[in-house]
Amino acid sequence: MERELIKNLLARQPVGEQVTVAGWVKTRRDASGFSFLEIGDGSSVRGLQVIAESTLANYQDEIKKMSTGCSVIVNGELRESPAKGQSVELLANRIELVGWADPAHYPLQKKRHSFEFLREITHLRPRTNALAAVARVRSHLSMAVHRFFQERQFTFIHTPIITTSDCEGAGELFQVITEQSAQTAPREQARDFFGRPAGLTVSGQLQAEVYASALGSVYTFGPTFRAENSNTSRHLAEFWMLEPEMAFCDLACAVELARELLVFLIESNLETCGEDLELFDRFVEKGLLAKLGKLASADFVRITYTEAIEELAKSGRSFEFPHEWGMDLQSEHERFLVEEVFQAPLIVTDYPATLKPFYMRLNDDGVTVAAMDVLIGGIGEIIGGSQREERYEVLLQRMEQGGIDIESLQWYLDLRRYGTVPHAGFGLGFERLMQCVTGMANIREVIGFPRAPGFAPC
Ligand code: 4AD
Ligand code: MG
Repeated sequence: MERELIKNLLARQPVGEQVTVAGWVKTRRDASGFSFLEIGDGSSVRGLQVIAESTLANYQDEIKKMSTGCSVIVNGELRESPAKGQSVELLANRIELVGWADPAHYPLQKKRHSFEFLREITHLRPRTNALAAVARVRSHLSMAVHRFFQERQFTFIHTPIITTSDCEGAGELFQVITEQSAQTAPREQARDFFGRPAGLTVSGQLQAEVYASALGSVYTFGPTFRAENSNTSRHLAEFWMLEPEMAFCDLACAVELARELLVFLIESNLETCGEDLELFDRFVEKGLLAKLGKLASADFVRITYTEAIEELAKSGRSFEFPHEWGMDLQSEHERFLVEEVFQAPLIVTDYPATLKPFYMRLNDDGVTVAAMDVLIGGIGEIIGGSQREERYEVLLQRMEQGGIDIESLQWYLDLRRYGTVPHAGFGLGFERLMQCVTGMANIREVIGFPRAPGFAPC
Protein backbone atom coordinates (compact mmCIF):
# COMPACT_ATOMS: atom_id res chain seq x y z
CA MET A 1 0.00 0.00 0.00
CA GLU A 2 1.25 3.44 -0.83
CA ARG A 3 2.56 5.52 2.04
CA GLU A 4 1.10 8.92 2.73
CA LEU A 5 2.62 11.91 4.48
CA ILE A 6 1.06 12.80 7.80
CA LYS A 7 0.75 16.39 6.67
CA ASN A 8 -1.43 15.35 3.74
CA LEU A 9 -3.52 12.98 5.83
CA LEU A 10 -4.24 15.70 8.36
CA ALA A 11 -5.26 18.04 5.57
CA ARG A 12 -7.33 15.47 3.70
CA GLN A 13 -8.80 13.60 6.67
CA PRO A 14 -10.02 10.56 4.70
CA VAL A 15 -12.04 9.04 7.55
CA GLY A 16 -12.81 5.35 6.95
CA GLU A 17 -9.93 4.84 4.48
CA GLN A 18 -7.08 2.38 4.88
CA VAL A 19 -3.83 4.30 4.96
CA THR A 20 -0.15 3.66 5.58
CA VAL A 21 2.30 6.02 7.22
CA ALA A 22 5.99 5.62 7.99
CA GLY A 23 7.93 7.56 10.58
CA TRP A 24 9.43 7.68 14.04
CA VAL A 25 7.75 7.19 17.38
CA LYS A 26 7.53 10.42 19.35
CA THR A 27 5.82 8.98 22.41
CA ARG A 28 4.08 5.82 23.62
CA ARG A 29 1.45 5.68 26.33
CA ASP A 30 -0.19 2.47 27.49
CA ALA A 31 -3.80 2.09 28.55
CA SER A 32 -5.64 -1.06 29.42
CA GLY A 33 -5.99 -3.22 26.34
CA PHE A 34 -4.22 -0.82 23.94
CA SER A 35 -1.44 1.74 23.55
CA PHE A 36 -1.25 5.21 22.02
CA LEU A 37 1.71 5.88 19.76
CA GLU A 38 2.38 9.31 18.41
CA ILE A 39 4.17 9.07 15.07
CA GLY A 40 6.00 11.86 13.32
CA ASP A 41 7.37 11.72 9.79
CA GLY A 42 8.90 15.19 9.50
CA SER A 43 6.23 16.47 7.12
CA SER A 44 4.41 18.52 9.72
CA VAL A 45 4.75 19.90 13.23
CA ARG A 46 1.84 17.72 14.23
CA GLY A 47 2.18 13.97 14.58
CA LEU A 48 -0.45 11.31 14.03
CA GLN A 49 -1.96 9.44 16.94
CA VAL A 50 -2.02 5.69 16.38
CA ILE A 51 -4.13 3.31 18.43
CA ALA A 52 -2.43 -0.08 18.86
CA GLU A 53 -4.80 -2.64 20.32
CA SER A 54 -3.45 -5.54 22.35
CA THR A 55 -4.86 -7.95 19.75
CA LEU A 56 -2.08 -7.01 17.31
CA ALA A 57 0.28 -9.96 16.83
CA ASN A 58 3.42 -8.13 17.95
CA TYR A 59 1.76 -6.11 20.72
CA GLN A 60 3.51 -7.72 23.70
CA ASP A 61 6.86 -8.45 22.06
CA GLU A 62 7.41 -5.27 20.15
CA ILE A 63 4.80 -2.52 20.41
CA LYS A 64 4.89 -2.40 24.20
CA LYS A 65 8.65 -1.96 24.02
CA MET A 66 8.63 0.81 21.43
CA SER A 67 10.12 4.04 22.69
CA THR A 68 10.91 7.52 21.38
CA GLY A 69 12.98 7.34 18.20
CA CYS A 70 11.94 3.87 16.94
CA SER A 71 11.10 3.74 13.26
CA VAL A 72 7.83 2.12 12.21
CA ILE A 73 5.46 1.57 9.31
CA VAL A 74 1.80 1.65 10.32
CA ASN A 75 -1.20 0.57 8.36
CA GLY A 76 -4.75 1.06 9.53
CA GLU A 77 -8.01 2.86 9.27
CA LEU A 78 -8.27 6.57 9.77
CA ARG A 79 -11.11 7.52 12.05
CA GLU A 80 -12.45 10.53 13.83
CA SER A 81 -10.73 11.02 17.12
CA PRO A 82 -12.72 11.38 20.31
CA ALA A 83 -9.72 13.01 21.98
CA LYS A 84 -9.21 16.75 22.26
CA GLY A 85 -6.55 18.51 20.19
CA GLN A 86 -6.73 16.27 17.13
CA SER A 87 -9.45 15.53 14.63
CA VAL A 88 -8.35 12.13 13.36
CA GLU A 89 -6.39 9.11 14.56
CA LEU A 90 -5.21 5.86 13.04
CA LEU A 91 -6.58 2.54 14.30
CA ALA A 92 -3.71 0.20 13.46
CA ASN A 93 -4.14 -3.13 11.66
CA ARG A 94 -0.45 -3.67 11.53
CA ILE A 95 2.59 -1.95 13.00
CA GLU A 96 5.89 -3.02 11.53
CA LEU A 97 8.96 -2.27 13.59
CA VAL A 98 11.73 -1.08 11.28
CA GLY A 99 14.46 0.03 13.72
CA TRP A 100 14.83 0.11 17.49
CA ALA A 101 16.15 3.14 19.39
CA ASP A 102 17.46 1.91 22.74
CA PRO A 103 15.87 4.21 25.35
CA ALA A 104 18.90 3.80 27.59
CA HIS A 105 21.02 5.58 24.99
CA TYR A 106 18.73 7.57 22.67
CA PRO A 107 19.57 11.17 23.60
CA LEU A 108 16.23 12.79 22.74
CA GLN A 109 13.57 12.68 25.42
CA LYS A 110 9.98 13.78 25.22
CA LYS A 111 10.85 17.01 27.04
CA ARG A 112 12.22 20.13 25.36
CA HIS A 113 15.98 20.27 25.00
CA SER A 114 18.11 23.38 24.83
CA PHE A 115 19.43 24.37 21.42
CA GLU A 116 22.96 24.22 22.83
CA PHE A 117 22.45 20.59 23.79
CA LEU A 118 20.92 19.78 20.39
CA ARG A 119 24.00 21.20 18.62
CA GLU A 120 26.01 18.42 20.24
CA ILE A 121 23.82 15.87 18.48
CA THR A 122 23.65 17.48 15.06
CA HIS A 123 22.86 14.10 13.51
CA LEU A 124 19.67 13.67 15.54
CA ARG A 125 18.39 17.21 16.03
CA PRO A 126 16.23 17.30 12.87
CA ARG A 127 14.03 14.79 14.73
CA THR A 128 12.93 17.60 17.04
CA ASN A 129 9.91 19.74 16.14
CA ALA A 130 11.92 22.97 16.06
CA LEU A 131 14.80 21.79 13.89
CA ALA A 132 12.47 19.93 11.52
CA ALA A 133 10.49 23.16 11.14
CA VAL A 134 13.73 25.02 10.41
CA ALA A 135 14.52 22.51 7.66
CA ARG A 136 11.09 22.91 6.07
CA VAL A 137 11.25 26.71 6.18
CA ARG A 138 14.73 26.58 4.65
CA SER A 139 13.46 24.43 1.83
CA HIS A 140 10.47 26.68 1.14
CA LEU A 141 12.58 29.83 1.27
CA SER A 142 15.12 28.36 -1.15
CA MET A 143 12.39 27.62 -3.65
CA ALA A 144 10.87 31.07 -3.11
CA VAL A 145 14.24 32.57 -4.02
CA HIS A 146 14.15 30.76 -7.34
CA ARG A 147 10.53 31.69 -7.93
CA PHE A 148 11.29 35.36 -7.34
CA PHE A 149 14.14 35.47 -9.82
CA GLN A 150 12.65 33.13 -12.40
CA GLU A 151 9.48 35.26 -12.51
CA ARG A 152 11.70 38.24 -13.28
CA GLN A 153 13.58 36.32 -15.97
CA PHE A 154 16.94 36.25 -14.22
CA THR A 155 19.24 33.39 -15.26
CA PHE A 156 20.38 31.09 -12.44
CA ILE A 157 24.11 30.56 -12.76
CA HIS A 158 26.48 28.30 -10.85
CA THR A 159 29.59 30.11 -9.73
CA PRO A 160 32.62 28.10 -8.63
CA ILE A 161 33.31 26.99 -5.09
CA ILE A 162 37.03 26.84 -5.69
CA THR A 163 38.32 30.25 -6.69
CA THR A 164 41.61 32.00 -7.30
CA SER A 165 40.43 35.48 -6.29
CA ASP A 166 39.52 36.88 -2.89
CA CYS A 167 36.49 38.90 -3.90
CA GLU A 168 36.13 40.84 -0.67
CA GLY A 169 39.89 41.34 -0.34
CA ALA A 170 39.69 40.74 3.38
CA GLY A 171 42.08 37.78 3.46
CA GLU A 172 39.45 35.47 4.86
CA LEU A 173 40.01 32.71 2.36
CA PHE A 174 40.37 29.03 3.23
CA GLN A 175 43.21 27.77 1.09
CA VAL A 176 42.62 24.69 -1.05
CA ILE A 177 45.56 22.33 -1.46
CA THR A 178 45.86 18.62 -2.09
CA GLU A 179 46.38 16.25 0.80
CA GLN A 180 49.66 15.18 -0.73
CA SER A 181 51.02 18.69 -0.94
CA ALA A 182 49.87 19.47 2.58
CA GLN A 183 51.96 16.63 3.86
CA THR A 184 55.08 17.16 1.83
CA ALA A 185 55.49 20.72 0.63
CA PRO A 186 55.92 23.90 2.67
CA ARG A 187 52.81 26.01 2.56
CA GLU A 188 54.17 28.61 0.15
CA GLN A 189 54.65 25.88 -2.45
CA ALA A 190 51.04 24.87 -2.21
CA ARG A 191 50.33 25.84 -5.79
CA ASP A 192 50.40 22.19 -6.57
CA PHE A 193 47.11 21.52 -8.27
CA PHE A 194 45.94 24.71 -9.95
CA GLY A 195 49.36 26.23 -10.59
CA ARG A 196 48.40 29.19 -8.42
CA PRO A 197 47.00 29.72 -4.94
CA ALA A 198 43.35 28.72 -4.73
CA GLY A 199 40.75 28.91 -2.03
CA LEU A 200 37.09 28.38 -1.19
CA THR A 201 34.95 31.21 -2.49
CA VAL A 202 33.96 34.08 -0.18
CA SER A 203 31.46 35.34 -2.76
CA GLY A 204 30.40 34.42 -6.27
CA GLN A 205 30.10 38.08 -7.25
CA LEU A 206 33.09 38.49 -9.54
CA GLN A 207 32.04 35.47 -11.60
CA ALA A 208 28.42 36.64 -11.49
CA GLU A 209 29.63 39.88 -13.07
CA VAL A 210 31.06 37.84 -15.94
CA TYR A 211 27.64 36.37 -16.66
CA ALA A 212 25.77 39.63 -16.06
CA SER A 213 28.08 41.14 -18.70
CA ALA A 214 26.70 38.63 -21.17
CA LEU A 215 23.20 37.64 -20.05
CA GLY A 216 22.02 40.80 -18.32
CA SER A 217 20.32 39.72 -15.09
CA VAL A 218 21.67 36.66 -13.30
CA TYR A 219 21.82 35.21 -9.80
CA THR A 220 23.93 32.69 -8.01
CA PHE A 221 22.89 30.90 -4.82
CA GLY A 222 25.20 28.57 -3.01
CA PRO A 223 27.65 28.00 -0.19
CA THR A 224 30.36 30.53 0.59
CA PHE A 225 33.18 30.29 3.06
CA ARG A 226 34.91 32.74 5.36
CA ALA A 227 37.85 32.04 7.60
CA GLU A 228 36.96 34.91 9.92
CA ASN A 229 37.54 34.12 13.53
CA SER A 230 34.11 35.37 14.54
CA ASN A 231 32.52 33.28 17.19
CA THR A 232 29.25 35.19 17.18
CA SER A 233 25.58 34.34 16.86
CA ARG A 234 25.59 35.95 13.36
CA HIS A 235 28.64 34.37 11.73
CA LEU A 236 29.37 31.01 10.19
CA ALA A 237 32.50 29.78 8.43
CA GLU A 238 30.25 28.17 5.78
CA PHE A 239 27.03 29.93 4.87
CA TRP A 240 24.73 30.27 1.89
CA MET A 241 24.62 33.49 -0.05
CA LEU A 242 22.18 34.61 -2.69
CA GLU A 243 23.79 37.03 -5.14
CA PRO A 244 21.90 38.72 -7.96
CA GLU A 245 23.89 40.77 -10.45
CA MET A 246 22.29 43.05 -13.03
CA ALA A 247 23.72 44.76 -16.08
CA PHE A 248 22.36 48.19 -17.07
CA CYS A 249 21.47 48.81 -13.44
CA ASP A 250 22.61 51.36 -10.87
CA LEU A 251 22.58 51.48 -7.08
CA ALA A 252 18.96 52.65 -6.89
CA CYS A 253 17.85 49.69 -8.99
CA ALA A 254 19.72 47.25 -6.71
CA VAL A 255 18.21 48.89 -3.63
CA GLU A 256 14.72 48.48 -5.06
CA LEU A 257 15.31 44.83 -5.96
CA ALA A 258 16.64 44.10 -2.45
CA ARG A 259 13.50 45.53 -0.88
CA GLU A 260 11.18 43.65 -3.23
CA LEU A 261 13.08 40.42 -2.62
CA LEU A 262 12.88 40.63 1.17
CA VAL A 263 9.17 41.44 1.12
CA PHE A 264 8.47 38.61 -1.35
CA LEU A 265 10.41 36.03 0.68
CA ILE A 266 8.76 36.96 3.97
CA GLU A 267 5.29 37.04 2.46
CA SER A 268 5.68 33.73 0.70
CA ASN A 269 6.94 32.16 3.88
CA LEU A 270 4.01 33.46 5.86
CA GLU A 271 1.75 31.93 3.22
CA THR A 272 3.34 28.48 3.00
CA CYS A 273 4.89 27.81 6.40
CA GLY A 274 2.21 29.09 8.79
CA GLU A 275 2.25 26.04 11.03
CA ASP A 276 6.04 26.12 11.39
CA LEU A 277 6.09 29.85 12.04
CA GLU A 278 3.40 29.42 14.71
CA LEU A 279 5.69 26.96 16.45
CA PHE A 280 8.53 29.49 16.41
CA ASP A 281 6.17 32.20 17.58
CA ARG A 282 5.21 30.05 20.56
CA PHE A 283 8.55 28.61 21.56
CA VAL A 284 11.36 30.63 19.98
CA GLU A 285 10.42 34.30 19.56
CA LYS A 286 7.18 35.56 21.03
CA GLY A 287 5.47 37.93 18.59
CA LEU A 288 7.34 36.56 15.58
CA LEU A 289 4.29 36.43 13.31
CA ALA A 290 3.35 40.02 14.09
CA LYS A 291 6.96 41.08 13.50
CA LEU A 292 7.05 39.38 10.10
CA GLY A 293 3.71 40.83 9.10
CA LYS A 294 5.01 44.29 9.96
CA LEU A 295 8.26 43.69 8.11
CA ALA A 296 6.43 42.61 4.95
CA SER A 297 4.54 45.89 4.79
CA ALA A 298 7.24 48.16 6.23
CA ASP A 299 8.58 51.24 4.54
CA PHE A 300 12.30 50.76 4.19
CA VAL A 301 14.15 53.89 5.28
CA ARG A 302 17.06 54.93 3.09
CA ILE A 303 19.91 57.07 4.47
CA THR A 304 23.52 57.66 3.54
CA TYR A 305 26.41 56.57 5.70
CA THR A 306 27.13 60.26 6.40
CA GLU A 307 23.56 60.76 7.65
CA ALA A 308 23.89 57.63 9.79
CA ILE A 309 27.01 59.05 11.43
CA GLU A 310 25.15 62.33 12.04
CA GLU A 311 22.23 60.46 13.65
CA LEU A 312 24.62 58.67 15.99
CA ALA A 313 26.34 61.93 16.93
CA LYS A 314 23.12 63.75 17.69
CA SER A 315 21.68 60.84 19.70
CA GLY A 316 23.93 61.69 22.62
CA ARG A 317 24.05 57.98 23.35
CA SER A 318 27.33 56.49 24.55
CA PHE A 319 28.50 53.47 22.61
CA GLU A 320 31.26 51.00 23.22
CA PHE A 321 32.86 51.78 19.82
CA PRO A 322 33.57 55.25 18.39
CA HIS A 323 31.43 56.47 15.48
CA GLU A 324 33.30 59.10 13.57
CA TRP A 325 33.10 59.62 9.83
CA GLY A 326 35.43 57.11 8.19
CA MET A 327 34.92 54.40 10.80
CA ASP A 328 32.90 51.29 10.19
CA LEU A 329 29.43 51.08 11.71
CA GLN A 330 29.53 48.49 14.45
CA SER A 331 26.56 46.24 15.09
CA GLU A 332 25.64 48.27 18.21
CA HIS A 333 25.38 51.36 15.97
CA GLU A 334 23.40 49.54 13.31
CA ARG A 335 20.98 48.08 15.81
CA PHE A 336 20.48 51.42 17.53
CA LEU A 337 19.60 53.08 14.22
CA VAL A 338 17.24 50.31 13.11
CA GLU A 339 15.61 49.41 16.38
CA GLU A 340 15.45 52.76 18.14
CA VAL A 341 15.87 55.70 15.77
CA PHE A 342 14.00 54.55 12.66
CA GLN A 343 12.20 51.44 13.92
CA ALA A 344 12.14 50.13 10.38
CA PRO A 345 14.42 48.25 8.00
CA LEU A 346 17.21 50.59 7.02
CA ILE A 347 19.20 50.85 3.82
CA VAL A 348 22.49 52.65 4.38
CA THR A 349 24.26 53.80 1.22
CA ASP A 350 27.41 55.61 0.11
CA TYR A 351 30.04 54.44 2.56
CA PRO A 352 33.59 55.81 2.61
CA ALA A 353 35.62 54.08 -0.10
CA THR A 354 38.26 53.10 2.46
CA LEU A 355 35.79 50.85 4.27
CA LYS A 356 34.64 48.87 1.24
CA PRO A 357 36.13 46.47 -1.33
CA PHE A 358 37.85 47.63 -4.53
CA TYR A 359 35.00 46.78 -6.89
CA MET A 360 32.49 49.32 -5.60
CA ARG A 361 31.81 52.32 -7.83
CA LEU A 362 33.47 55.56 -6.76
CA ASN A 363 30.97 58.41 -6.30
CA ASP A 364 31.55 61.86 -7.80
CA ASP A 365 32.75 63.17 -4.42
CA GLY A 366 35.82 60.95 -4.86
CA VAL A 367 35.65 59.66 -1.27
CA THR A 368 32.50 57.55 -1.01
CA VAL A 369 31.35 54.53 -3.01
CA ALA A 370 27.92 53.46 -4.28
CA ALA A 371 27.54 50.80 -1.56
CA MET A 372 24.43 49.64 0.24
CA ASP A 373 23.86 47.63 3.39
CA VAL A 374 20.37 46.53 4.35
CA LEU A 375 19.92 46.38 8.12
CA ILE A 376 16.98 44.84 9.95
CA GLY A 377 15.90 44.64 13.57
CA GLY A 378 17.38 41.85 15.68
CA ILE A 379 19.83 40.84 12.97
CA GLY A 380 21.74 43.89 11.76
CA GLU A 381 23.22 43.53 8.27
CA ILE A 382 21.28 41.05 6.15
CA ILE A 383 22.31 42.30 2.70
CA GLY A 384 25.49 43.93 1.43
CA GLY A 385 25.90 45.17 -2.12
CA SER A 386 26.84 47.99 -4.47
CA GLN A 387 26.98 49.42 -7.92
CA ARG A 388 30.20 48.10 -9.46
CA GLU A 389 32.99 50.25 -10.87
CA GLU A 390 32.52 49.94 -14.64
CA ARG A 391 35.18 52.50 -15.68
CA TYR A 392 38.45 50.78 -16.56
CA GLU A 393 40.81 53.52 -15.43
CA VAL A 394 39.03 54.19 -12.16
CA LEU A 395 38.88 50.49 -11.35
CA LEU A 396 42.54 50.02 -12.17
CA GLN A 397 43.46 52.87 -9.87
CA ARG A 398 41.30 51.49 -7.05
CA MET A 399 42.93 48.09 -7.43
CA GLU A 400 46.41 49.58 -7.37
CA GLN A 401 45.59 51.64 -4.31
CA GLY A 402 44.14 48.60 -2.59
CA GLY A 403 47.20 46.44 -3.37
CA ILE A 404 45.08 44.02 -5.42
CA ASP A 405 46.97 41.62 -7.69
CA ILE A 406 46.15 43.10 -11.11
CA GLU A 407 47.56 40.24 -13.13
CA SER A 408 45.33 37.58 -11.62
CA LEU A 409 42.27 39.81 -12.07
CA GLN A 410 43.02 40.97 -15.62
CA TRP A 411 39.93 39.06 -16.77
CA TYR A 412 37.85 41.19 -14.39
CA LEU A 413 39.37 44.37 -15.79
CA ASP A 414 38.74 43.09 -19.31
CA LEU A 415 34.99 43.21 -18.67
CA ARG A 416 35.48 47.00 -18.51
CA ARG A 417 37.46 47.05 -21.76
CA TYR A 418 35.01 45.19 -23.92
CA GLY A 419 31.47 46.54 -23.85
CA THR A 420 31.39 47.74 -20.27
CA VAL A 421 28.01 48.63 -18.73
CA PRO A 422 26.85 50.10 -15.43
CA HIS A 423 25.92 47.17 -13.25
CA ALA A 424 25.04 46.42 -9.66
CA GLY A 425 24.21 43.57 -7.33
CA PHE A 426 24.16 42.39 -3.76
CA GLY A 427 24.56 39.42 -1.46
CA LEU A 428 21.83 38.23 0.89
CA GLY A 429 23.06 36.08 3.78
CA PHE A 430 20.60 33.19 3.63
CA GLU A 431 21.13 32.13 7.26
CA ARG A 432 20.59 35.70 8.48
CA LEU A 433 17.30 35.68 6.58
CA MET A 434 16.48 32.34 8.19
CA GLN A 435 17.20 33.85 11.61
CA CYS A 436 14.83 36.68 10.87
CA VAL A 437 12.07 34.35 9.71
CA THR A 438 12.41 31.75 12.49
CA GLY A 439 13.39 34.05 15.35
CA MET A 440 16.38 31.83 16.13
CA ALA A 441 18.88 33.80 18.21
CA ASN A 442 21.89 31.77 17.09
CA ILE A 443 22.77 31.27 13.44
CA ARG A 444 23.93 27.71 14.22
CA GLU A 445 20.29 26.68 14.60
CA VAL A 446 19.25 27.61 11.06
CA ILE A 447 21.69 25.48 9.07
CA GLY A 448 21.79 21.68 9.21
CA PHE A 449 25.49 21.30 9.73
CA PRO A 450 26.97 24.50 11.16
CA ARG A 451 30.66 25.27 10.72
CA ALA A 452 32.30 27.86 12.97
CA PRO A 453 35.71 28.25 14.61
CA GLY A 454 36.34 25.06 16.58
CA PHE A 455 33.00 23.61 15.55
CA ALA A 456 32.30 21.19 12.70
CA PRO A 457 30.48 18.11 13.99
CA CYS A 458 29.43 15.59 11.35
O1 4AD B 1 28.54 42.03 2.79
P1 4AD B 1 29.18 40.82 2.18
O2 4AD B 1 30.55 40.47 2.61
O3 4AD B 1 29.09 41.06 0.61
C1 4AD B 1 29.66 40.31 -0.36
O4 4AD B 1 30.27 39.28 -0.20
C2 4AD B 1 29.40 40.82 -1.75
N1 4AD B 1 30.43 40.30 -2.65
C3 4AD B 1 28.01 40.39 -2.18
C4 4AD B 1 27.63 40.91 -3.53
O5 4AD B 1 27.55 42.10 -3.72
N2 4AD B 1 27.36 40.02 -4.49
O6 4AD B 1 28.23 39.56 2.44
C5 4AD B 1 26.88 39.58 2.03
C6 4AD B 1 25.98 39.05 3.14
C7 4AD B 1 26.03 39.87 4.43
O7 4AD B 1 25.20 40.99 4.36
C8 4AD B 1 25.54 38.87 5.44
O8 4AD B 1 24.12 38.77 5.44
C9 4AD B 1 26.10 37.56 4.90
O9 4AD B 1 26.38 37.75 3.54
N3 4AD B 1 27.33 37.16 5.61
C10 4AD B 1 27.42 36.16 6.50
N4 4AD B 1 26.49 35.31 6.97
C11 4AD B 1 26.90 34.38 7.86
N5 4AD B 1 28.17 34.24 8.29
C12 4AD B 1 29.13 35.07 7.83
N6 4AD B 1 30.39 34.90 8.24
C13 4AD B 1 28.78 36.09 6.90
N7 4AD B 1 29.47 37.04 6.24
C14 4AD B 1 28.57 37.68 5.47
MG1 MG C 1 28.94 43.42 4.26
